Amino acid sequence: MFSNIKSVGLLGLDSYMIDVELNITNGKYALEVVGLPDTSVNEARDRIIAALHNSHLEMHLTSHYTFNLAPADIKKEGSLYDLPMAVAVLSATKQIMGDYKNAAFIGELSLSGDIKPVKGVLPMVMAAKANGLKDIYIPVDNASEAAIIEGINIYAVKSLRQLVDHINDVEKMQPVEIIPFKHYELPDFLPDFKDVKGQFEVKRALEVAAAGGHNVMMIGPPGSGKSMLAKRIPTILPDITIDEALETTKIYSLSGNLSKDKPLINYRPFRAPHHSVSPAGLSGGGTIPKPGELSLAHNGVLFLDELPEFSRGTMEVLRQPIENGTITISRAACALTYPCSVMLICAMNPCPCGYYGHPTRSCSCPNGAPARYLSKVSGPLLDRLDIHVEVPPVDYNQLSDSEAGECSTAIRERVNEARRIQIERFKGTTITCNAKMTPSLTRQYCRLTPSAAKTLELSFERLGLSARAYDKILKVARTIADLDKSEIIDNMHIMEALQYRSLDRKFWKS
Ligand SMILES: Nc1ncnc2c1ncn2[C@@H]1O[C@H](COP(=O)(O)OP(=O)(O)O)[C@@H](O)[C@H]1O
Ligand SMILES: [Mg+2]
Repeated sequence: MFSNIKSVGLLGLDSYMIDVELNITNGKYALEVVGLPDTSVNEARDRIIAALHNSHLEMHLTSHYTFNLAPADIKKEGSLYDLPMAVAVLSATKQIMGDYKNAAFIGELSLSGDIKPVKGVLPMVMAAKANGLKDIYIPVDNASEAAIIEGINIYAVKSLRQLVDHINDVEKMQPVEIIPFKHYELPDFLPDFKDVKGQFEVKRALEVAAAGGHNVMMIGPPGSGKSMLAKRIPTILPDITIDEALETTKIYSLSGNLSKDKPLINYRPFRAPHHSVSPAGLSGGGTIPKPGELSLAHNGVLFLDELPEFSRGTMEVLRQPIENGTITISRAACALTYPCSVMLICAMNPCPCGYYGHPTRSCSCPNGAPARYLSKVSGPLLDRLDIHVEVPPVDYNQLSDSEAGECSTAIRERVNEARRIQIERFKGTTITCNAKMTPSLTRQYCRLTPSAAKTLELSFERLGLSARAYDKILKVARTIADLDKSEIIDNMHIMEALQYRSLDRKFWKS
C-alpha cells in the first residue's frame, strides 16, 4: 500500500514543497522515517500511533511502515510533519476517501489526536499558494496568522477526527475567513514627541531619517534626552506597506514570535537590544539558524543605545548587513540568508563621563579617554550612519516652557507624505525608500540645481568626504527635497544634508 501527501518545509525563509510518501508492507511491525529527518521528526512515530488510536482510527501494528520525506537532501526539522504522516497512513489504508490530492497538511499531533500549533505557518501557506495548491490544512491556533493570505482555502483544524470527518464529507468545515490588511493604529498612551522640549534640530533630523529610512547617530551628554527621543521614534515611522508587513511577519512567524491576537506585524518593528547582546543574538543563530535582532527589526528600526558599550564583535556584525539589507549565517548544516533592511539608530555619550565637548561643564575624563571611547565606534560603522546629530543639553528655559511641542501625529503625516513619493518613485523595484537606493538609482533620481551641485563639489573637497559619504549626502538630500515636495534637489536641501555629516569632525576629528 502506498500514499503520497503534500506538506511544506522551511529552510530559513525559503519554503519548498515536501512529499510525504508512505509505503506499507505486510510483515513484522516497524516504522521508519527516511529523508533526513531530525530527532523531532523521528519522535513523530509515537505521537502518530497514539493520535490515530485515540481518534478511533486504525493503524495496524502488524505492518512495516516506511515514510520518505522528499526531497531527501534537505534536513527536515520540527513536529509539523506529524499531521501529513498521519494523513498518509489514513490515505494508504483507505480511511479517507474524499478530495485531498491538491492539498497540503501541516501540524503537530498531541497524543489525544488534537492538532497543536507550529512555527512558520505564514511562509508555508504562502508557499502552498505559490505552488498552485487549492487547500491547506493548518492547526487552529495558527489560523489568524494565515488568514491574511487570499487565493487558497485555509482550513484551521482542531483535531485529526475533525479533519477526517471533513475529508470524508461527514461534517464539512468552512475555510478561514480572510482578514483584510489594516495598518496598526497607534494607541494614545504611547510616549509622544510633544513631551520633548526644545531639541528642534534633533527632531527635524529624526523626521528626515524616518521619512527616508536613514540611519542615525545621536551623540550628546547624559540627560540630554537621547533615549527619550529614540523611544518616540515608533510614533513617527511611516505606515508599513502590505508587502513589507508580510515579509516582516514571515520572520516573526518563523521565530515563533506571533501570537493569536497579534498575528500580523502591521507596523514597523522597533527593536532595542541591550548592549550585552551577543553577536549571535544580533545576527541570528542556532544549528539551523533562527533570525536575530537585526532581522526582527526588518522594515523597522534597530536602536542601539549607548553604542560604545556594545562589544566590538557585536558592532562589527552590523557592518555588512546594514549595507546589504541581508544577513547570511553559515553553519555546518546550511547557510541561510535573512532579510534585515533596517533603519539603524545609535545613541551615545561622547566620553565615559559624558561631558566631552559640553558647552558649560568640563569633562572629568583622564587624558586620552574621550578619544579611546569614541574610537570604539569604528570609522566604517560611523560612515554607514547617514545622519549624525548632536543632542545638546536642554537649558532651563526650554525645560520649563509650558507649551507643548509638535505632536507625533503631525510629524508622521509629513513623513507619510514623503514616503508615498518614494514608494511611487521606486515602483517596480524592490525598495521603498531613498536610503536603500543603489548607486545607479541615486544617479537617476538625485538631480541637483547648479548651485546645489556647486555647494556639494566645494564641500566634498573642503571636508575630504569619502565616496560613501558622498552617496549618503545625496540620498539624505533627496529625502529633504521630498519633504519639501521638490522634484529637484536645491541648495538648501544639500546644505541641510551636509550639516548632518559635520559631527564626526567635531568628535572624531577625522
Ligand atoms: N528635551 C527634553 N524635554 C523634556 N524632558 C527631557 C528632555 N531631555 C531630557 N529630559 C528628561 O530627562 C530624562 C533623561 O533623559 P534621557 O533621554 O534618559 O537622556 P540620555 O539618554 O540622553 O542620557 C528624560 O526621561 C526626561 O525626563
Ligand atoms: Mg540614554
